[in-house]
Amino acid sequence: MALDLAVRSADPSDVKTPLLALLLPAGNSLPAGLKRLDASLDGALATALKRGDFRGSRDETLHLQGRAGQAERILLVGLGKPSSLPLSLRRAGGLAGRQGHKMGAGQMTAWTPRTDKAGVEALGIGLNLGAWEYTELKTPPAPDERRAPLTAATILAPATLRGAAAAASAIGAGYDVTRRLAMMPGNVCTPDYLADTAREIAKRHRMVVTVLGRKEMEKEGMGSFLAVAQGTPQEPRLVAMEYKGGKKGAAPIVLVGKGLCFDTGGISIKPAEKMEFMKFDMCGAAAVIGAMEAIARLKLRTNVVGVFGATTNMPSGTAVKPGDVVKASTGKSIEIINTDAEGRLVLADVLAYVKRFNPAAVVDAATLTGACVVALGNTASGALGNDDRLVREVIGASNAAGEPAWQLPLWDEYKDLIKSDVADMKNTGGRAAGTITAALLLKEFADYPWVHLDVAGTAYSETDLVMIPRGPTGVPMGTFVQFVRGRTR
Ligand code: BES
Ligand code: MN
Ligand code: ZN
Repeated sequence: MALDLAVRSADPSDVKTPLLALLLPAGNSLPAGLKRLDASLDGALATALKRGDFRGSRDETLHLQGRAGQAERILLVGLGKPSSLPLSLRRAGGLAGRQGHKMGAGQMTAWTPRTDKAGVEALGIGLNLGAWEYTELKTPPAPDERRAPLTAATILAPATLRGAAAAASAIGAGYDVTRRLAMMPGNVCTPDYLADTAREIAKRHRMVVTVLGRKEMEKEGMGSFLAVAQGTPQEPRLVAMEYKGGKKGAAPIVLVGKGLCFDTGGISIKPAEKMEFMKFDMCGAAAVIGAMEAIARLKLRTNVVGVFGATTNMPSGTAVKPGDVVKASTGKSIEIINTDAEGRLVLADVLAYVKRFNPAAVVDAATLTGACVVALGNTASGALGNDDRLVREVIGASNAAGEPAWQLPLWDEYKDLIKSDVADMKNTGGRAAGTITAALLLKEFADYPWVHLDVAGTAYSETDLVMIPRGPTGVPMGTFVQFVRGRTR
């Protein structure tokens, strides 16, 4: 399933491959490194550039025939005028990987004029993202109609950059885990399925894993989380995966995810139109699980705990109702105005729970509010927290990962919006500042340096994107990994 990535030091004219992708910046001159290849193609590359058939604009592509025994097909992909070369290589690599996968190349090779460590890693991640497809629930096509999935890619670069391809493989594996879980339908990817997946990853990488069910959560007094879970017969799960790559006893980084395997809205039920997308309401949890896979593969020398709360939000005879007041494990009471604001209720108890790990920093990811999609669209995640330096650090990691986030204020001035007549707070504050009021409720339970990422608009896409088909993007798996890497020695 995951793309097998390799680095090879060779002239592109000497490589035998079903598909050679050439990732070129804007311009019409032939890069020196392509002179021999161009000669072997009777000047086809230089001609295409001179004519302006291909100008190297961002997302521009041109297919050329290659030669048997050499590169059989050639795909030119534009990098545009990159402000960040790694991010442009990631995007162009994604486009190339997607094309290679679609045409059934099986294997492909990628070349770009300038390569360094960051470039090879980003290109490798892009190729992996582009080659991803979720086929598990479809009957395979008849053998004569079958196309070879893209399973291997070689990046032409100095052999000293092998480590960068290995890192890209590790991060690619993380994205694969995240996107697969996200794409799985709610009847397959249940809270138990998420817990079992976490157990499998934990076992393979020798992590300690803890799984709580309804009974254990009752003992912890998690009345807020359990209020959401009381409408479903499925067992809710709170899962913690402890990766110990750092010094013994050193305070860990804790990653937290919202894992709503389906969100109907509960008694405050959602409209039917597009409700199917609410299977993606566990993307935060999926990103945590994927990040733990990637972090373990990268063997990062840091202590990291991945935690998620998983359940489904259902209307039923036992479901929580508007007006009900529940008590979280910290003793704080919450009036539930709208049962569709369930993510914050789950995360309240999960954030209180992770205090026991004595975290150096906590970053949570949640498809929390439609308001965040209104504010930032599908381009940036919302970032809010109780420590501005940490917010900046997480935003830095998000930019480096190609998963931009943007800060929204978390000022006390907004707190009046979630004042309750009967309880310590209410779970919604009306239409105004919806992303902020949601984060303000979380803040009441985050007693340590903490950043919240609202990924409602970025974790999945309802439309086809350049490098990613409609569906899960993997965001913010890469941000999690970059953040942990940035804190590793
Ligand atoms: N999971 C949704 C948020 C969401 C909306 C994610 C759209 C992705 C796309 C969340 O549980 C929710 O329903 N939030 C409500 C809160 C409201 C009732 C205060 C919302 O945003 O409408
Ligand atoms: Mn909801
Ligand atoms: Zn939700």
